[in-house]
Parts: sequence; structure tokens; C-alpha cells
Amino acid sequence: MMNLELTRVQISSFREKGFLRLERITSDVDIAALRVSYDRIFADRAGSDDGFHFDLSGADREEGTEARLPQILMPAKYAPEMNDSELLANSTRIARQLLGDEARCSIAHAILKPAFNGAETPWHQDAAYWNPNTLARSISIWVPLQDATLENGCMHFVPGSHELDVLPHRSIGGNTSVHGLELAGSALQNVRSPVACPVPAGGCTIHGGYMLHYAGANRTEQPRRALILGAEIDGLPRSEPRSFPWQDAWKTEAGEKRANAIQ
Ligand code: NI
Repeated sequence: MMNLELTRVQISSFREKGFLRLERITSDVDIAALRVSYDRIFADRAGSDDGFHFDLSGADREEGTEARLPQILMPAKYAPEMNDSELLANSTRIARQLLGDEARCSIAHAILKPAFNGAETPWHQDAAYWNPNTLARSISIWVPLQDATLENGCMHFVPGSHELDVLPHRSIGGNTSVHGLELAGSALQNVRSPVACPVPAGGCTIHGGYMLHYAGANRTEQPRRALILGAEIDGLPRSEPRSFPWQDAWKTEAGEKRANAIQ
């Protein structure tokens, strides 16, 4: 196993700009094994029945129609071998360097952009999805399972935007039966001088919950596979209670299935 440690320069760059790009976070052998698990759970439509597998970019669809941005939440629930990956071990080590020794890390999402058909992931902040009354202290480690390029949907960031609070969002296209969120209206003016971050297979990008980010559509003939690991320490309560209207407006079928599964 690789002994992976961030340098002081990398850590201070992350603090200053709000994101980081690593050429390597795990081995090619590990990536190859993760791809096998990843393809299996998407082929099996794992998580469809309990609302953990849905189209992030569209309303819930009839069985058999192709999703443009299929996502599986907590993919290791359906592929437990992912929890034994070098990727998770290395990500945990990195998360502890950035957040502290108590950081918890897990494989949070799998997001697939099918060949020629993957929708773009519009500009958003991850914290727009989360509890409005908590100041999140978290990072996301975005790991492509093949090279991530401008053509197949690599990540883009706005340096310094991690200092922002949550900006106004809405469901993609204003359709409240869509789970995916995008910056709403004039909030898009905050997207200034974005930086594209292509990374080779085995590398990753890292960003915090308030960072503005975007990933392009997949215009290539190969699927673009990505795993997103989430790491956090306990958030801090905000003094002023608030709600996010875009969350109150959510009416997604997958969300109802998840709520029913929890009850
Ligand atoms: Ni995101």
C-alpha cells in the first residue's frame, strides 16, 4: 500500500484556494477492482427500490429509460468490498490531515455519466444539500475510475469560493422533482475565473462543502465513472436558524422511498 501524505505546500494551497488536485491517491490495481464493483452495481440497478439509486439530473423515470446522470448513494452498501479498498484507506489518511484525527470517511456517492449522454453537473455547493443550521466541516474526495478530461466531465472549481456561505440554489431547471441542485439566478455571478481540473485515473480532486464546483457533460464514447468519498468532523451549530427553500420544495420519488425506508 502506498504511504500517502500531503505536503505542507499542498495543505496550505487547499486552505487558501479551497481545492486540491492529486495525481495519485490509489493504485491502478485498486482502481481496476473498484471499476468492476462499480459497473456491477449500476448494471444491477442496485438501490433503485430503496431510493438510493436515481437520476440526479432528471425527474424519476419509467423503468427501462436511460438516466443521464445516474447516482448511487452509499455504493458500498451494495458492494461491500469497496470498503476494503486502498482508496478508502488513503482517503481516510488524507482527510485526517485536513480535518483532524477524528475525521470519519466513507464512500458517499457513485456518479456515472454515460457515453455521449452524460448531462453536465451544474454549478453548485454541496452544503446546499445539507442541514441549513449546521456549519459543515467536511471534504469531498472526487475519484474518477478512468482519466477525467475536459471532454468527459472533469471537475471545475472557483478558487477562493470556499469562503462563501451557501448561495441561493434551486432544483436543476427549476423542476422540484429533480434532486440535483444548481445555483439560482444572480448567484451565478459568483462563478468567476473557474479552473478546470483534469486528473488521470488513480488521481483525485478534493474540495470542501462550500466550494463552487461544476462538471461538464460526457461527450466521449466511454462512460465517465466517478466515486465521491465524503469525510467530516462534527459540524458546528449556526446561531441563526434558517431553512433552504430549495430543500423545502423537493418532491422527488427517490426521496420519498428513502424516507419510507428509514421509518
Ligand atoms: Ni457536488
